[in-house]
Amino acid sequence: MKITVVGAGAVGATTADNIIRRELAEEVVLLDIKEGVSEGKALDMYQTAALLGFNTKPVGSTNDYEKTKGSDVVVITSGLPRKPGMTREELIGINAGIVKGVTENILKYSPKAIIIVVSNPMDTMTYLALKESGIPKKRLIGMGGALDSARFKTYLALEMDVSPLDIHGMVIGGHGDTTMIPLTRLATYNGIPVSRFISPEKLEKVAADTMVGGATLTKLIGTSAWYAPGAATLLLVESIVRNQKRIVPCSVSLNGEYGQKDICMGVPVVLGRSGWEKIINIRLSDQEKAAFEKSAEAVRSMNAALNL
Ligand code: NAI
Repeated sequence: MKITVVGAGAVGATTADNIIRRELAEEVVLLDIKEGVSEGKALDMYQTAALLGFNTKPVGSTNDYEKTKGSDVVVITSGLPRKPGMTREELIGINAGIVKGVTENILKYSPKAIIIVVSNPMDTMTYLALKESGIPKKRLIGMGGALDSARFKTYLALEMDVSPLDIHGMVIGGHGDTTMIPLTRLATYNGIPVSRFISPEKLEKVAADTMVGGATLTKLIGTSAWYAPGAATLLLVESIVRNQKRIVPCSVSLNGEYGQKDICMGVPVVLGRSGWEKIINIRLSDQEKAAFEKSAEAVRSMNAALNL
């Protein structure tokens, strides 16, 4: 198993670090355009092997795609992150060029790779990569819902003063402050609806906090977050590499599912060795359906900015 992470910035490096600690591959390549950064971070990470006890060796590469040759899974995190006050959508112009170029280079050396897109605005970047590459849709996956769902579960756990491990919940729809849909109706505390434990007002506040979860962190830190994004990306990589068949909300190409087509948006999918294997169809309430449609409209108008 060989995994490449493109972009050795905050999210890319954290993702690669998580992957090597879990020994998910024999080889992990970390590639960045900035001279020396990926080599330096890879060496720094490898120096933790003797301390933490793992055997996977990370390899850095300054834009040399030959080193990524034969990768089974590729994670694309290259691109600008947002600064306080910015939306993910404002990154579109510059990141579109980066994601397009990176996807082309990756496929030259790893035509069979499963590609996970993290760069924002993620739903549009995933659709762009799909359109530009022409690879089978099941091999292109956008990471967003895994992170938003983790934030949702964390805010619920904080509100209820319980362990996040006992909370189940999902966020679907577009990966944007106003487009994501925390499914409060279906969230449970060990199988029991959370509405039994918190008031409707508090549940609504949890959903609202979840939606601006990324912006809240960007404001506090001064740039966008990386620990949870890196862990959420690991969840996707691990389910694929170990063929775990986990159900994770991911941005995938819809063809009539959830009433949408010609778009990538967050829906629950089963992740296994061949990529996303199937979409899980949840029966949405009328209100949730309307929110999904509104979310699709927003993602579509973002795609239109790139003539997609
Ligand atoms: P960062 O600025 O720390 O790292 C980005 C890296 O990409 C830099 O090291 C830069 O040199 C590199 N890069 C730029 N152009 C490149 C190219 N053509 N080829 C190779 N490398 C290139 O940014 P950070 O915080 O790691 O975020 C990365 C992206 O991920 C951003 O677009 C951010 O908005 C997005 N993001 C998405 C999340 C999601 O849930 N989908 C969560 C968090 C961040």
